[in-house]
Amino acid sequence: MIRSTAGRVIRKIDPRARRRERQARQGAREHVTLPLDMFDQLRTGDEVAAAKKLEGIYHKGQRRAWNGKEVLAELVEKHGGVRVAPEQREALRALFAVILWGELAAWKISADLAQRLEPLEAKMAATAQAHDEARHFYVMHDYLELLGDVPRTLPPSTQRLLEGVLQTDDLVRKLVGMQMMVEPMALALFQMVRESNVEPVLSDLIRLFERDEARHVALGVLHLPKLLQGMGPVEAARLYRWEFGEYLAQLRMLREMEPHFNALGLDVRRVIEIGRNKQVRANQMLAEEIGAPLPVLEAFIRFFDAKAEWEWPSREYDTSRDHLEAVLRAAFQGGADVPAHLTDVAA
Ligand SMILES: [Fe+2]
Ligand SMILES: [Fe+2]
Repeated sequence: MIRSTAGRVIRKIDPRARRRERQARQGAREHVTLPLDMFDQLRTGDEVAAAKKLEGIYHKGQRRAWNGKEVLAELVEKHGGVRVAPEQREALRALFAVILWGELAAWKISADLAQRLEPLEAKMAATAQAHDEARHFYVMHDYLELLGDVPRTLPPSTQRLLEGVLQTDDLVRKLVGMQMMVEPMALALFQMVRESNVEPVLSDLIRLFERDEARHVALGVLHLPKLLQGMGPVEAARLYRWEFGEYLAQLRMLREMEPHFNALGLDVRRVIEIGRNKQVRANQMLAEEIGAPLPVLEAFIRFFDAKAEWEWPSREYDTSRDHLEAVLRAAFQGGADVPAHLTDVAA
C-alpha cells in the first residue's frame, strides 16, 4: 500500500501496478516498443507534485540552454586565451580528463534513462539532461583541445567508478550513482576550481556547468521515491552493498587525483568535505521527498567520515592517539553534521 508523507494510506497497489513498478525499477520494459499503458498508473498527491517539478526541469533546461561553441569563443576572447602556469597545465588537464569522460558517462546514462524511465515527466527531465550532457561533453572536449591534447586515458579507480554506474542495468543504481553520487562530487570539484580561479576561461565556463548540474541532481531526488517504493529488503540490501562499493571507489578516485589537486594548490580534504556535504544534502532532499528516514545512509556517512579522517586528517594532530580519537569521533558522531532528516524525517 502507498502512504502519503503524512502516513495516510492512499490506496492499495494492485498486483499489476506492483509488477509494473518492479519492472520500471529493474528497467525490464525496454523490450516493449511502445508502452501504451504508460498513462494507466494511479498516482498519489505527492507523485503528482513531483511529476510537475520534473516537467519543469525539462522546460527550464530548454529555456536555459546555451550555445557551447559561442560561449567558449567569447570567453577565450574576453580573457585573451587559455592562460595557465606551465607547471599547472598538466594537472588541470588530468583533472578535467575525469570531467570530460564523466560527462560522456552522464550523457550515456541520461540517454538510457530517457529511453526507459516512466512516467512521461521523468522521461522529459532525463531527455533534457541528455541534451545538457551532450553540450558539456563537446565544450569540455573543445576546452581541453585549447589546453593541449584531449586525454584518452583515465586512472583505474576513476574508470571503475564511472563504469560501475554505466554497466548496471538497474535504474535505481543508475540514478543513485549518477545523480546522487557522481554529480554532487563533480559539483564539488567545479566549486573548488572556480573559487581558486586557476584558469579564468575555465572558471567562467564552470559556472554554466554548475547551473545545469543542479537540475540533474533534482531528477534523482524527485524520481527515486517512486522507484524505491515497494523495494523489498533483499533488493535494498543489494543496493546498499553496491552503493558501498561505489563510495569506496570514489575515495580511491580522489586518492588518484590528489597529486593534481596538490599541483593546483587545492586541498583534497576540502574537496571531500564539499562533495560529502553535497551528497548528504541530495540524500536529505530524497528523504524529504520519500517522507521516511534513510537510516543505512547515516551509517554510510559515519563510516566514510571516519575513513576520510583516517586517510586525510582534517588537521595536524600532535600524536597518533589524538588522530585515532578523531577518527573514532567521526565514526560514532559523524565528521560533521548528519542532518536529522536522514534519521527522523517522519517526526
Ligand atoms: Fe554534465
Ligand atoms: Fe549532469
